[in-house]
Amino acid sequence: MIARTAGNDSAPAASVRALGTFDIRTQDCIDFLRGLPDASVDLIVTDPAYSGMNRHLRFGHGRIVGHYGKPDNDRWFHEFSDDPESYAVFLGECHRVLRQDRHVYIMFDTFSMLSLGALVRDFFDVKGVVVWDKMHLGMGHYFRRRHEQIVFASKGRRKLSRRDLPDVWAVPRIHRAAYPTQKPVKLFELMVQASAEPGFLVCDPFCGSGSSGVAALLTGCDFIGADVDARAVDIAEDRLTRFVATGQDPLEPAR
Ligand SMILES: C[S@@+](CC[C@H](N)C(=O)[O-])C[C@H]1O[C@@H](n2cnc3c(N)ncnc32)[C@H](O)[C@@H]1O
Repeated sequence: MIARTAGNDSAPAASVRALGTFDIRTQDCIDFLRGLPDASVDLIVTDPAYSGMNRHLRFGHGRIVGHYGKPDNDRWFHEFSDDPESYAVFLGECHRVLRQDRHVYIMFDTFSMLSLGALVRDFFDVKGVVVWDKMHLGMGHYFRRRHEQIVFASKGRRKLSRRDLPDVWAVPRIHRAAYPTQKPVKLFELMVQASAEPGFLVCDPFCGSGSSGVAALLTGCDFIGADVDARAVDIAEDRLTRFVATGQDPLEPAR
């Protein structure tokens, strides 16, 4: 377990802001969640590596992020086996670890939204779907992709902390990201601002480069996350360590 706290005596001045602690583990999402106690996290924000989209894209110009499954390819990363049975186990574990009267945000591409999105309703009260408008055209064989979807749901009853947000979030995608599929911190920051209070524990079982962790710390929350890929965990740990020490995000320096 790795946990660091900002604001100690030896930390630079920038860390005096109320940054929280973080703990990032190299683990499969299900093993990770199974290791957490019941009702132990306050908010889940996550961006799973769905395999379904790549299955659908194979008929076109190949997969979106290089050739998966080849560890010598630095754009390679694991896919989550997202058949409905595995996905239901994942959602069941998310429900178990989430405290009562708390929120969850799960990101979906178009294909996984159609195949898996409805399952969220078996475990949580789905309150809405947010569209992430990436503001720049991506790839696509028909209409070129510019959006992803975020299912917003609750366990029990909880109001949003922010009532000024629309259900379309225009946040530019990251150009030349350091990590494949790295998402903008701003995206997670909106989720955390809308559904957390300072001191909440934010959880991301597919944390990748740690963008959700930066958002949690920025908002005065603690963070616990996992990724099955040790390289992702190295990147995320280094990123959050540097963010806590300097107040600067090395993977989004322009923020
Ligand atoms: C879409 S990326 C997340 C990117 C992240 N939101 C960011 O901004 O960097 C999905 C991540 O899930 C990880 N992953 C794939 N299968 C997994 C599994 N079974 N358990 C945990 N993580 C997994 C991949 O290694 C990848 O880093």
